[in-house]
This record gives sequence, C-alpha cells and structure tokens, in this order.
Amino acid sequence: MNPETSPWKKLFLALLAVATVDILVYLGYQNYLLKQENFLLEAELVKTRQAFASTTQDLVVNIDALKQLLTATNVDKINAEQDILKQRELVGAMDAEVDSLSSTLGIYTKIINTDKELLEKYSRIYFLNENYIPKYLTPIPSVYTYEPEKESSISTEVWPFLQKLLDDAKSEGIDIKILSAYRSFGTQTKIKSSYTITYGSGANRFSADQGYSEHQLGTTIDFTTSKLGTNFDTFEKTSGYTWLTENAYKYGFILSYPKNNIYYISEPWHWRFVGKNLALRLHNENRNFYDIPQREINEYLLSIFDQ
Ligand code: DAL
Ligand code: ZN
Repeated sequence: MNPETSPWKKLFLALLAVATVDILVYLGYQNYLLKQENFLLEAELVKTRQAFASTTQDLVVNIDALKQLLTATNVDKINAEQDILKQRELVGAMDAEVDSLSSTLGIYTKIINTDKELLEKYSRIYFLNENYIPKYLTPIPSVYTYEPEKESSISTEVWPFLQKLLDDAKSEGIDIKILSAYRSFGTQTKIKSSYTITYGSGANRFSADQGYSEHQLGTTIDFTTSKLGTNFDTFEKTSGYTWLTENAYKYGFILSYPKNNIYYISEPWHWRFVGKNLALRLHNENRNFYDIPQREINEYLLSIFDQ
C-alpha cells in the first residue's frame, strides 16, 4: 500500500475542504441574513405595535371627547327645554294676567254701569228721590199690556227677561197681561194721593208713598189677566199666578209681598226683577227678598243681568 496520498486525492480533498468552507460560509451568511431580516421584522413589528397603540390611544381620546361633547349637547338640550318650559310658563302667566286684568276691567265696567239702587229694599226702608229715573226705559209693546192705549215702560235691561217670561207663559196657554210697570215719582205721588182720598191711612196697607215704590225702579210689574183687568184682587186664584210662582224665578222675578210680609197686604200680582241668581236662591230656600240682609243681597248686584 502506498502511504503517500495521490495528488489527485490531495486536490480532491483540498477542493472538498474549500467547498466545505464555502458552504459553511454561505450557510453562515444566509443565517446572518435571516437573523438580520428577523431583526428588521421584529423592529417593524415593534413600530407597528407602537403605531397601533398610539392610534388606539388617539381613538380613546377622540371617543372621550365625543362623549363629553354629547354630554354637553345633552345638557344644552335639557337647558333649552327648561328654557322653553319657563318661557311657556311666563307666557301662560302673562295670559292669566291679561285675562285677570280683562275680567277686572269687566268687573269695573259692570260696577260703573250697574245701578246700585236696583237691589235695594224700598218699601219704607230706602228712598228714591224725585230725580231717580231708570237709565234706559223701553216701551212695552201693547200686545203684552192689559190696556193697549196706555203707555207702559220697563227698564231696557229687564225687558228681555220679561218678554221671554210673557212669551213662554203664552206659549204654555197662560193668560198674563201687564197692568202696571215703571211709575215715576210723580205718578206714584198722584196714585197714592188718590188712594189716600178714598181710603185714608188705609191706603198705606197697599200703596207705597212716592220714593218708596219698587215701581220707580223700572224693574217691577203688576200682572193681571185679560179677564180680571183692573180688578186683580183675585189674581192669586188664576193659573197665571200659579204659573208665576212655579216659573217666574227662572226669568229673574220674585214676589215682593207674599202673605204675612211686614210691609203691605199680600200682593200676588206684584213681581220684581232681582236677576236669575238671587231669584233662584230665594226660590230654592223658600225665602222672601225682604227677609235677606241687604249686605247679602248686594252680592247679587253685579250679576243681576246675567243670563
Ligand atoms: N203696591 C206697592 C206696594 C206699591 O205701591 O209700590
Ligand atoms: Zn205693584
């Protein structure tokens, strides 16, 4: 066996060694490149993570800002709604104020325009002087009066109530006529004088002195019937009287002098307008006008012509 290695083998071994070194170098270099790439990728990943974290933080900040904005907007909305409610309340209060002022004005107008004598007690208590004449008088159409040729008049404000009473009575087949309505101070003077001549002081039992007659107010009526005419003493027995006792209060009229009153004989024909409210109360309580304190009666004055 030849201990010397052949040159070819040496060359082969040398080449093999060089190739092995090259491969090892190549592999080492490849490994280096891979590590380098890995390093870069990791660095990129870190950057991306940081960027993501920063974006997330920005988003959280933005969401917080939006939430705050939304809260502020809600607060603004609530404030605006409360403002609107306050404004509405204010407008409502102003409306109420205007209503109240109008109603106060209405009451003052009524106070100024309402004749304070209309609900006072005459019949020897209060006195109407010769200058007292109702503010407005309306002639009563002759179809309603017992004596068509005789002029009769009534307070203009009372007339609609009286006319309705007469029309309704007629439509129910009730015969009622007007015998006497407004009487001036002068007319009452003449009537009383005439009665006094005939009956002496006995006239005081059925006829008021001038200034004390409710007829001077223009709100009072003596009724009769077509049959009775001026002989109305028995008016109490007529269907007209019965109808009046059941219905006159609905039109604001009351009987001034019922049986057992302290002023005059019973006068079933003599009816005075006091307004629907007071007439209704007197009817419901079965009381007489002259038995109610004047102070209480006065409370009905402003509504006397209310329908
Ligand atoms: N007949 C009543 C009382 C008057 O004269 O007024
Ligand atoms: Zn009378």
